[in-house]
Amino acid sequence: MNLSLPNPAIRNLAWSARRSGVRRIVGAGHKMYLSFQETQVWLRELRRRESELGNVGVFVLPTFTAIAEARSILAESNILYGAQDTYWEERGPFTGEVSPLVLKELGCSLVEIGHAERRAMFGEDNDRVARKVAAVLRNGMAPVLCVGEARDQSEEMAISEVVNQVRAGLGAAVLELADAEGEPPAAPIIVAYEPVWAIGARAGAPTSRVGAVANAIRGTLSDLWRGDSAVIYGGSVTPVDATGLLDGGVDGLFVGRASLDLDEFIRIVRAADRPV
Ligand code: PGA
Repeated sequence: MNLSLPNPAIRNLAWSARRSGVRRIVGAGHKMYLSFQETQVWLRELRRRESELGNVGVFVLPTFTAIAEARSILAESNILYGAQDTYWEERGPFTGEVSPLVLKELGCSLVEIGHAERRAMFGEDNDRVARKVAAVLRNGMAPVLCVGEARDQSEEMAISEVVNQVRAGLGAAVLELADAEGEPPAAPIIVAYEPVWAIGARAGAPTSRVGAVANAIRGTLSDLWRGDSAVIYGGSVTPVDATGLLDGGVDGLFVGRASLDLDEFIRIVRAADRPV
Protein backbone atom coordinates (compact mmCIF):
# COMPACT_ATOMS: atom_id res chain seq x y z
CA MET A 1 0.00 0.00 0.00
CA ASN A 2 1.23 3.44 -0.87
CA LEU A 3 1.62 5.57 2.22
CA SER A 4 1.46 9.29 1.95
CA LEU A 5 2.99 10.16 5.26
CA PRO A 6 3.79 13.71 6.14
CA ASN A 7 7.52 14.06 6.28
CA PRO A 8 8.45 14.07 9.10
CA ALA A 9 5.23 12.69 10.59
CA ILE A 10 4.24 15.77 12.53
CA ARG A 11 6.57 18.63 11.81
CA ASN A 12 5.10 21.02 14.33
CA LEU A 13 5.04 18.67 17.25
CA ALA A 14 7.97 18.98 19.63
CA TRP A 15 9.75 15.79 18.52
CA SER A 16 11.12 17.65 15.56
CA ALA A 17 12.58 20.40 17.73
CA ARG A 18 15.35 18.08 18.82
CA ARG A 19 15.26 15.32 16.29
CA SER A 20 14.68 15.21 12.59
CA GLY A 21 13.16 12.40 10.61
CA VAL A 22 10.44 11.18 12.96
CA ARG A 23 8.11 9.32 10.62
CA ARG A 24 6.22 6.96 12.87
CA ILE A 25 4.44 7.61 16.12
CA VAL A 26 3.81 5.20 18.98
CA GLY A 27 1.82 6.28 22.01
CA ALA A 28 1.09 4.65 25.36
CA GLY A 29 -2.36 5.31 26.83
CA HIS A 30 -2.21 4.19 30.44
CA LYS A 31 -5.94 4.63 31.08
CA MET A 32 -6.41 3.99 34.85
CA TYR A 33 -4.25 0.88 35.03
CA LEU A 34 -1.21 2.08 36.98
CA SER A 35 -0.80 3.61 40.42
CA PHE A 36 1.11 6.85 40.89
CA GLN A 37 4.17 4.96 42.03
CA GLU A 38 3.97 2.43 39.22
CA THR A 39 3.67 5.29 36.74
CA GLN A 40 6.81 6.89 38.16
CA VAL A 41 8.75 3.66 37.83
CA TRP A 42 7.46 3.18 34.26
CA LEU A 43 8.42 6.72 33.24
CA ARG A 44 11.89 6.51 34.78
CA GLU A 45 12.55 3.22 33.06
CA LEU A 46 11.34 4.55 29.71
CA ARG A 47 13.62 7.56 30.11
CA ARG A 48 16.55 5.30 30.99
CA ARG A 49 15.93 3.21 27.86
CA GLU A 50 15.28 6.12 25.52
CA SER A 51 18.15 5.18 23.21
CA GLU A 52 16.19 2.01 22.32
CA LEU A 53 13.33 4.08 20.87
CA GLY A 54 15.25 4.92 17.71
CA ASN A 55 13.65 7.41 15.42
CA VAL A 56 10.07 6.88 16.53
CA GLY A 57 8.02 9.73 17.98
CA VAL A 58 6.98 8.31 21.34
CA PHE A 59 4.33 9.79 23.60
CA VAL A 60 2.76 8.72 26.88
CA LEU A 61 -0.57 9.70 28.42
CA PRO A 62 -0.37 8.85 32.13
CA THR A 63 -3.01 9.44 34.77
CA PHE A 64 -3.70 13.16 35.39
CA THR A 65 -2.01 13.22 38.76
CA ALA A 66 1.28 11.89 37.35
CA ILE A 67 1.60 14.53 34.62
CA ALA A 68 3.79 16.78 36.77
CA GLU A 69 6.05 13.76 37.40
CA ALA A 70 6.19 13.11 33.68
CA ARG A 71 7.32 16.67 33.21
CA SER A 72 10.30 16.30 35.52
CA ILE A 73 11.23 12.73 34.55
CA LEU A 74 10.99 13.40 30.81
CA ALA A 75 12.63 16.84 30.89
CA GLU A 76 15.30 17.14 28.20
CA SER A 77 14.08 13.96 26.54
CA ASN A 78 12.43 13.44 23.16
CA ILE A 79 9.48 11.65 24.70
CA LEU A 80 6.29 13.70 24.70
CA TYR A 81 3.59 13.39 27.31
CA GLY A 82 0.03 14.53 27.66
CA ALA A 83 -3.37 13.96 29.25
CA GLN A 84 -6.21 11.51 28.66
CA ASP A 85 -8.93 14.18 28.70
CA THR A 86 -9.57 17.85 29.44
CA TYR A 87 -12.46 20.19 30.11
CA TRP A 88 -13.27 22.72 27.40
CA GLU A 89 -13.24 25.89 29.51
CA GLU A 90 -10.02 27.40 30.84
CA ARG A 91 -11.29 28.58 34.26
CA GLY A 92 -14.42 28.73 36.34
CA PRO A 93 -16.88 26.88 38.54
CA PHE A 94 -16.33 23.39 37.10
CA THR A 95 -15.64 21.30 40.18
CA GLY A 96 -13.49 18.28 39.55
CA GLU A 97 -12.63 19.11 35.95
CA VAL A 98 -9.12 19.75 34.61
CA SER A 99 -8.39 22.88 32.62
CA PRO A 100 -6.51 22.79 29.32
CA LEU A 101 -4.65 25.83 30.63
CA VAL A 102 -3.21 23.75 33.46
CA LEU A 103 -2.28 20.94 31.09
CA LYS A 104 -0.44 23.43 28.93
CA GLU A 105 1.28 24.86 32.00
CA LEU A 106 2.47 21.35 32.89
CA GLY A 107 4.10 21.01 29.48
CA CYS A 108 1.62 18.62 27.87
CA SER A 109 2.06 18.36 24.10
CA LEU A 110 -0.98 16.20 23.47
CA VAL A 111 -4.44 15.61 24.89
CA GLU A 112 -6.52 12.55 24.10
CA ILE A 113 -10.14 13.37 23.34
CA GLY A 114 -13.16 11.16 22.80
CA HIS A 115 -11.75 7.76 23.73
CA ALA A 116 -14.35 5.03 23.30
CA GLU A 117 -14.44 4.41 27.06
CA ARG A 118 -15.25 8.06 27.69
CA ARG A 119 -17.90 8.02 24.96
CA ALA A 120 -19.48 4.86 26.40
CA MET A 121 -19.18 5.54 30.14
CA PHE A 122 -18.86 9.27 30.70
CA GLY A 123 -21.35 10.84 28.33
CA GLU A 124 -18.80 12.08 25.82
CA ASP A 125 -20.84 12.86 22.71
CA ASN A 126 -19.70 14.48 19.48
CA ASP A 127 -20.57 17.93 20.76
CA ARG A 128 -18.43 17.60 23.89
CA VAL A 129 -15.64 16.02 21.87
CA ALA A 130 -15.67 18.93 19.45
CA ARG A 131 -15.52 21.53 22.24
CA LYS A 132 -12.62 19.72 23.85
CA VAL A 133 -10.70 19.40 20.59
CA ALA A 134 -11.09 23.15 20.04
CA ALA A 135 -9.94 23.86 23.62
CA VAL A 136 -6.82 21.72 23.19
CA LEU A 137 -5.89 23.52 19.98
CA ARG A 138 -6.69 26.96 21.41
CA ASN A 139 -4.20 26.21 24.16
CA GLY A 140 -1.44 25.22 21.77
CA MET A 141 -1.51 21.45 22.26
CA ALA A 142 -2.32 18.71 19.76
CA PRO A 143 -5.50 16.66 20.16
CA VAL A 144 -5.37 12.90 19.82
CA LEU A 145 -8.92 12.59 18.52
CA CYS A 146 -10.19 9.04 19.01
CA VAL A 147 -12.72 7.71 16.55
CA GLY A 148 -13.98 4.25 15.70
CA GLU A 149 -17.05 2.31 14.68
CA ALA A 150 -19.04 0.76 17.50
CA ARG A 151 -19.59 -2.68 15.96
CA ASP A 152 -17.68 -4.95 13.64
CA GLN A 153 -19.66 -4.16 10.51
CA SER A 154 -18.95 -3.70 6.81
CA GLU A 155 -16.00 -1.59 5.76
CA GLU A 156 -18.33 0.86 4.06
CA MET A 157 -20.40 1.38 7.19
CA ALA A 158 -17.30 1.68 9.34
CA ILE A 159 -15.88 4.36 7.04
CA SER A 160 -19.11 6.32 7.08
CA GLU A 161 -19.36 6.22 10.91
CA VAL A 162 -15.72 7.16 11.40
CA VAL A 163 -15.69 9.96 8.84
CA ASN A 164 -18.75 11.45 10.54
CA GLN A 165 -16.95 11.34 13.88
CA VAL A 166 -13.88 13.07 12.43
CA ARG A 167 -16.01 15.80 10.85
CA ALA A 168 -18.01 16.29 14.04
CA GLY A 169 -14.91 16.19 16.24
CA LEU A 170 -13.11 18.86 14.25
CA GLY A 171 -16.15 21.00 13.50
CA ALA A 172 -15.86 23.45 16.40
CA ALA A 173 -12.12 23.84 15.94
CA VAL A 174 -12.54 24.54 12.23
CA LEU A 175 -15.04 27.29 13.01
CA GLU A 176 -13.22 28.72 15.99
CA LEU A 177 -9.69 28.61 14.69
CA ALA A 178 -10.07 29.37 11.00
CA ASP A 179 -7.95 32.36 10.03
CA ALA A 180 -9.28 35.66 8.75
CA GLU A 181 -9.52 34.28 5.21
CA GLY A 182 -11.55 31.35 6.47
CA GLU A 183 -8.67 28.94 5.89
CA PRO A 184 -8.77 25.84 8.11
CA PRO A 185 -6.44 25.62 11.11
CA ALA A 186 -2.77 24.84 10.50
CA ALA A 187 -2.10 23.21 13.87
CA PRO A 188 -0.93 19.59 14.15
CA ILE A 189 -3.44 16.89 15.04
CA ILE A 190 -3.41 13.16 15.55
CA VAL A 191 -6.44 11.03 14.77
CA ALA A 192 -6.48 7.65 16.49
CA TYR A 193 -8.59 5.10 14.66
CA GLU A 194 -9.78 2.75 17.38
CA PRO A 195 -12.64 0.44 16.42
CA VAL A 196 -14.62 0.05 19.63
CA TRP A 197 -14.92 -3.72 19.15
CA ALA A 198 -11.13 -4.08 18.88
CA ILE A 199 -10.31 -2.26 22.15
CA GLY A 200 -9.57 -4.52 25.10
CA ALA A 201 -10.17 -7.50 22.81
CA ARG A 202 -8.20 -10.66 22.10
CA ALA A 203 -6.98 -9.32 18.76
CA GLY A 204 -6.88 -6.04 16.91
CA ALA A 205 -8.74 -5.16 13.72
CA PRO A 206 -7.58 -6.76 10.46
CA THR A 207 -4.91 -4.83 8.59
CA SER A 208 -7.11 -4.33 5.53
CA ARG A 209 -9.82 -2.66 7.61
CA VAL A 210 -7.29 -0.43 9.33
CA GLY A 211 -5.74 0.67 6.02
CA ALA A 212 -9.09 1.40 4.37
CA VAL A 213 -10.45 3.46 7.26
CA ALA A 214 -7.12 5.29 7.73
CA ASN A 215 -7.21 6.32 4.07
CA ALA A 216 -10.75 7.59 4.43
CA ILE A 217 -9.70 9.60 7.50
CA ARG A 218 -6.80 11.10 5.55
CA GLY A 219 -9.19 12.08 2.77
CA THR A 220 -11.45 13.85 5.27
CA LEU A 221 -8.52 15.60 6.90
CA SER A 222 -7.28 16.88 3.58
CA ASP A 223 -10.68 18.57 3.07
CA LEU A 224 -10.89 20.02 6.56
CA TRP A 225 -7.41 20.61 7.87
CA ARG A 226 -4.33 22.51 6.78
CA GLY A 227 -1.89 21.50 9.51
CA ASP A 228 0.16 18.34 9.78
CA SER A 229 -1.81 15.30 10.75
CA ALA A 230 -1.12 11.69 11.52
CA VAL A 231 -3.50 8.75 11.62
CA ILE A 232 -2.60 6.09 14.15
CA TYR A 233 -4.30 2.82 15.04
CA GLY A 234 -5.28 1.61 18.51
CA GLY A 235 -7.06 -1.51 19.72
CA SER A 236 -5.32 -4.57 21.17
CA VAL A 237 -1.95 -3.77 19.59
CA THR A 238 0.78 -6.25 20.54
CA PRO A 239 4.43 -6.62 19.51
CA VAL A 240 3.33 -9.49 17.26
CA ASP A 241 0.88 -7.56 15.09
CA ALA A 242 2.56 -4.14 15.21
CA THR A 243 4.47 -4.55 11.94
CA GLY A 244 1.44 -5.79 10.02
CA LEU A 245 -0.72 -2.92 11.25
CA LEU A 246 1.89 -0.36 10.24
CA ASP A 247 2.23 -1.95 6.82
CA GLY A 248 -1.53 -1.65 6.51
CA GLY A 249 -1.20 2.08 6.18
CA VAL A 250 -1.17 3.97 9.48
CA ASP A 251 1.37 6.50 10.70
CA GLY A 252 1.70 4.88 14.07
CA LEU A 253 0.14 2.92 16.90
CA PHE A 254 -1.66 3.72 20.11
CA VAL A 255 -1.16 1.09 22.77
CA GLY A 256 -3.23 0.34 25.86
CA ARG A 257 -2.62 -2.88 27.82
CA ALA A 258 0.56 -3.84 26.00
CA SER A 259 2.14 -0.52 27.01
CA LEU A 260 1.98 -1.34 30.72
CA ASP A 261 4.85 -3.80 30.40
CA LEU A 262 7.70 -1.62 29.24
CA ASP A 263 9.50 -4.44 27.45
CA GLU A 264 6.41 -5.06 25.35
CA PHE A 265 5.95 -1.37 24.67
CA ILE A 266 9.55 -0.98 23.54
CA ARG A 267 9.19 -4.00 21.27
CA ILE A 268 6.25 -2.25 19.60
CA VAL A 269 8.25 0.96 19.25
CA ARG A 270 11.13 -0.99 17.72
CA ALA A 271 8.75 -2.58 15.22
CA ALA A 272 7.86 0.94 14.13
CA ASP A 273 11.46 2.06 13.80
CA ARG A 274 12.14 1.34 10.18
CA PRO A 275 11.96 3.26 6.95
CA VAL A 276 8.45 3.97 5.72
P1 PGA B 1 -5.93 -1.86 24.34
O1 PGA B 1 -6.44 -0.36 24.42
O2 PGA B 1 -4.58 -1.81 23.64
O3 PGA B 1 -5.81 -2.30 25.76
O4 PGA B 1 -6.93 -2.62 23.54
C1 PGA B 1 -6.31 0.44 23.30
C2 PGA B 1 -6.96 1.77 23.50
O5 PGA B 1 -8.03 1.85 24.11
O6 PGA B 1 -6.40 2.77 23.03
